[in-house]
Amino acid sequence: MQRDTLFQQREGSSPFRFDHQVATVFSDMIRRSVPGYPLTLEMIAVIAGHFARDGSVMYDLGCSLGESAQALCTGAVGRKCRVIAVDNSREMIARCRQRLAAATGSVPVQLVCADITDLRVDNASVVALNFTLQFIPRPQRLALLKAIHRGMNYGAALLISEKITFEDEATAATLATLHAGFKLRQGYSELEISRKREALEEVLMPDTMEQHRMRLRQAGFTQVIPWFQCLNFVSLLAIR
Ligand SMILES: C[S@@+](CC[C@H](N)C(=O)[O-])C[C@H]1O[C@@H](n2cnc3c(N)ncnc32)[C@H](O)[C@@H]1O
Repeated sequence: MQRDTLFQQREGSSPFRFDHQVATVFSDMIRRSVPGYPLTLEMIAVIAGHFARDGSVMYDLGCSLGESAQALCTGAVGRKCRVIAVDNSREMIARCRQRLAAATGSVPVQLVCADITDLRVDNASVVALNFTLQFIPRPQRLALLKAIHRGMNYGAALLISEKITFEDEATAATLATLHAGFKLRQGYSELEISRKREALEEVLMPDTMEQHRMRLRQAGFTQVIPWFQCLNFVSLLAIR
């Protein structure tokens, strides 16, 4: 795993992109930036184990290097289903293809380079949006969730992990400070943290927990179950 030092060198105010450089260090970057990321992968496997059905499709939307796709495969091992993993970054898909080529398993993975807002989800038993919805323009989020809901079988599971924000400014400020503390302990410098924060402005746009709950209900999900929170990062399970 190559260590993320991107914001040691990057100056200026160009917005964050999932480009070749990010794809090269992404495994390290997400582990040292998102508290609880490895647990979300373990839980994707657990959830896939419970919800995957023979003859169905599991989706990993915004798959990056395919770590959630692999967790879906691990959880559904022995089931006669398949995974479709989608990302609109060509660089991510290329590296994902290399990573998955080394993996062995009974559940096949098809990689698709596409915008998930253009994708037709069909016959889904499990859908993972692991830290992806926050990068979709806000006006498109409800339509995306409705399209996912339409393509899910009854009783199927959507797993969403996100960075969240808070109406209460004091809460938001405390958790932002603690998150920076987490990143400092992971070896990032104050400068790297502030450069990346600037680069992500207008790119990663977090919602509040209430906005997530309401949107998921509006999209038609019957159950919305938060199952994890660490600082300002949450994971929800939404069931059709
Ligand atoms: C934080 S990463 C997701 C991490 C990944 N799900 C995991 O569990 O390791 C967000 C990913 O979403 C992808 N993405 C953002 N907007 C997208 C869109 N409209 N269509 C497809 N992929 C998108 C980015 O290219 C990036 O790889």
